[in-house]
Amino acid sequence: VRIPVVAAGGFFDGRGLVAALAYGAAGVAMGTRFLLTSDSTVPDPVKARYLAATVRDVTVTRAVDGLPHRMLRTDVVTALERSGRIRTLGHALRRAAGFRRLSGLTWRQLARDGLALRHGKELSWSRLLLAANTPMLLKSAMVDGRTDLGVMAAGQVTGVIEDLPSCAELVERMVKEAEEVMTALAGLAEGTRD
Ligand SMILES: Cc1cc2nc3c(=O)[nH]c(=O)nc-3n(C[C@H](O)[C@H](O)[C@H](O)COP(=O)(O)O)c2cc1C
Repeated sequence: VRIPVVAAGGFFDGRGLVAALAYGAAGVAMGTRFLLTSDSTVPDPVKARYLAATVRDVTVTRAVDGLPHRMLRTDVVTALERSGRIRTLGHALRRAAGFRRLSGLTWRQLARDGLALRHGKELSWSRLLLAANTPMLLKSAMVDGRTDLGVMAAGQVTGVIEDLPSCAELVERMVKEAEEVMTALAGLAEGTRD
């Protein structure tokens, strides 16, 4: 293609950046890594949950809205899995009612959030409720800090991230690492030629 391609998923350090560049990418996009920075507005107790997680604490589940999402395995995720997949409008409504009770939101607030999600798309009420479920649960944890109520989207890299640098420190560190790796590789290539 003639447009710049950015690699995403699983990047967190300079070595990954070099690997992506080697594959012809113009750069990398990082979700989990930027979430875990001192600049990120995610509440501190939530960041602490991510930092404490190992690779085994990240799971892929369809229990939230029927689509696969990679998340931290928490009691909420386990409870959602036990309650089964959402299949009908009645089930979607019951789950929304449960969330509303726990969150203390009014039906009016819930409906407003749901409608805001429509973005002019033609969604049935049942599809809308399903689509609304994930962002509502994400917002509970990631914005409101309710790790007991919401879900936490997490890349597999969560298991290897152990610090909270600022974004500037992170980018600087990655570029330095990438330069070191490329210098070492250039040295290797030089050695092979001799
Ligand atoms: C807090 C959070 C929210 C996310 N929300 C979405 C989403 O709404 N839709 C989506 O396709 N991916 C979502 N993702 C997954 C990102 O697309 C994924 O993290 C991205 O590919 C970068 O991968 P990385 O986290 O390994 O860097 C989310 C990830 C995180 C950490």
